[in-house]
Amino acid sequence: MYRVVGGPPLAGSVRVSGAKNAALPAMAAALLTDEEVVLRNVPEIDDTRTLSRLLDYLGVKVSRPEAGVLVLRADGLHTTTCPTDLVATNRASFAVVGPLLGRFQEASSTTPGGDVIGQRPVDIHLTGFVSLGAEVDFSADPLVVRAPNGLQGGRVFLDYPSVLGTQNIMMAACLARGETVIVNAGTEPEIQGLAQLLTLMGAKIRGAGTQTIEVTGVPRLHGAQHRIMPDRIESGTFALAAAISGGDVDVEDAPSQYLDSLLAKLRAAGAEVQARDGGIRVCRSSPLRSVNFQALPYPGLPTDLQAPLSAVLTQAEGVSIVHERVFDNRMLYVGELRKLGAEIVSAGSVSIVSGPRRLHGGRVRALDVRAGAAVVLAGLVAEGETFVEDIYHLDRGYENLDTKLQSLGARIERVQPGKD
Ligand code: UD1
Repeated sequence: MYRVVGGPPLAGSVRVSGAKNAALPAMAAALLTDEEVVLRNVPEIDDTRTLSRLLDYLGVKVSRPEAGVLVLRADGLHTTTCPTDLVATNRASFAVVGPLLGRFQEASSTTPGGDVIGQRPVDIHLTGFVSLGAEVDFSADPLVVRAPNGLQGGRVFLDYPSVLGTQNIMMAACLARGETVIVNAGTEPEIQGLAQLLTLMGAKIRGAGTQTIEVTGVPRLHGAQHRIMPDRIESGTFALAAAISGGDVDVEDAPSQYLDSLLAKLRAAGAEVQARDGGIRVCRSSPLRSVNFQALPYPGLPTDLQAPLSAVLTQAEGVSIVHERVFDNRMLYVGELRKLGAEIVSAGSVSIVSGPRRLHGGRVRALDVRAGAAVVLAGLVAEGETFVEDIYHLDRGYENLDTKLQSLGARIERVQPGKD
């Protein structure tokens, strides 16, 4: 667990790592070719380690010649069946199904199932595969997806602009015969990042980043080298750490062009924000003001920053109303913030934060990776010691969160449970 001692405003500069949500689908994309795919700026976090293990199990040669570099070669697959434990511990592992189906005409995986933030079904992915001619029994477990005669491009309507769903269908469509049009596609930057890699591999994709993506199938893809984009969610987390602590932090490599929604809210809340190409600086010297916000698909405010921003609003003057519109159960962290003295209540997908409230230390849990970030931020300004348990969730998504925060002056350290 983490021990966080509240106190000093954060100051200095910190460099963000490669984006978790860009690295995971890029790793899965290596299944689409028998040639080498080299990925740089891959974050060393538990989610990329788990997916490496899954790829290795399938028969992909995975090596890490130096920090941040992954070399993947899928030239001798043993199986297209994913082991249950690895899909169960990392939902993004389901991103291997689209490329397996596209290249080998079959894939089998357990249903990733729900987690603490919501039910998280995969019906949108499966409906997309069916629109491309695949057969699947939606209620079977494990799910077996097959296209014995190969995939045939088609028109795919997504009932919701699912991020992984869009990526999975886009990857499957790359090797399908003919033209695929994905309607109501996700527009997240990580989808654009994946399209860039696939294009380098020889895919024909237009419109990634818009709600309509067109893919013209090609017979085969080849190897490529690709740099993973910087993590916009990690960037946002450090920006929020600066804001909550009344500090002055330069977030190097932050992709400011993808952070408009957050930066607008930070400014409205009273922080000073300077955005440039490849970085943002956030400082705050005056009191925070309340703001209302909704978590939405991109370019709206990311659901992954909903809990961390709410933690900041516990320190803002006035009442903030927060509406989570992406996941159905992403307010559980509210109870953890209350343990630290926050005045925050939730009903369904809405929460109401009243501030400012002086927070005090306590013992809280990281319920998921971003709920964990929220309690760490609260701990930075709470009086006394905050112990954050279950930080394995944070290790899934943040590279060296503790040492990066320490470099900004935060008092945070990893301790063994039971030694507090
Ligand atoms: C991705 C991100 C995650 C982020 C989320 C929303 C990765 C590895 N993870 O998750 O960090 O919080 O986008 O920005 O990129 N849904 C269905 N059926 C489906 C698929 C999704 O109903 O088949 C629903 C989900 O339950 C949820 C909503 O759609 O309510 C959005 O989910 P989705 O965009 O698919 O999230 P992920 O891609 O899993």
